[in-house]
Amino acid sequence: MRRPMVAGNWKMHGTRASVAELIEGLANLALPNGVDVAVFPSNLHISLVVDCLEGQSIAVGAQNSAHEAGQGALTGEISPTQLADAGCRLVLVGHSERRQIMGESNKVLSRKFAAAQESGLTPVLCIGETLEQRQAGKTLEVVGQQLDSIIEELGIDAFVNAVIAYEPVWAIGTGLTASPEQAQEVHAAIRAQLAEENSEVAQGVRLLYGGSVKAANAVELFGMPDIDGGLIGGASLNADEFGAIVRAAGN
Ligand code: PGA
Repeated sequence: MRRPMVAGNWKMHGTRASVAELIEGLANLALPNGVDVAVFPSNLHISLVVDCLEGQSIAVGAQNSAHEAGQGALTGEISPTQLADAGCRLVLVGHSERRQIMGESNKVLSRKFAAAQESGLTPVLCIGETLEQRQAGKTLEVVGQQLDSIIEELGIDAFVNAVIAYEPVWAIGTGLTASPEQAQEVHAAIRAQLAEENSEVAQGVRLLYGGSVKAANAVELFGMPDIDGGLIGGASLNADEFGAIVRAAGN
């Protein structure tokens, strides 16, 4: 049985005041025991969030990290080792905003994935197709290549301690959600691709869905057999809404 996970990606949102308020809201929620919950604040707010959530069962992650572990001369970057030292347990790798806007390639992302694991962080690999690619019937091909690039570079065992988030780019922040059937089709394909290499790893890895998830659609999405929770953007900025999504994953 895979334990469900719900993760909140706060993106480039928040001030010290609004983050403190959001954390207070989260700390007051009655969250189910059977779900792993994580939040991904901006790097600037990680320490604040780690301190305020001490003693709570909510893990903290980063939205990005350097392609190298350790410390060194890399101006403006933060290494996964530093993130682990600051109390992070997870890191997003390859969110579509980083692939598309910051130009991160599969090659650099496999290095980030490896550096994260080397530092003891759990990478959450984000993959997904654009609207154009979906309309051209290329969804499974695109997602398959994004996944394959990690398998080829690092081997299937890299997924023993990793999470995958399928996030169709056309559903992120648009209010458009993949239907539960559309999402399940891709999740099943991802798991089948992993199973070709190692069925045990494929059965164990958690596959999150992301893209305009809210309390109103979470139950249906999380009810699909290969959807093990969600990566939540906009709706994670509201503690009550996020709490309702977490409870949906616990049902
Ligand atoms: P959204 O973002 O829930 O606001 O669509 C999801 C994400 O980008 O992880």
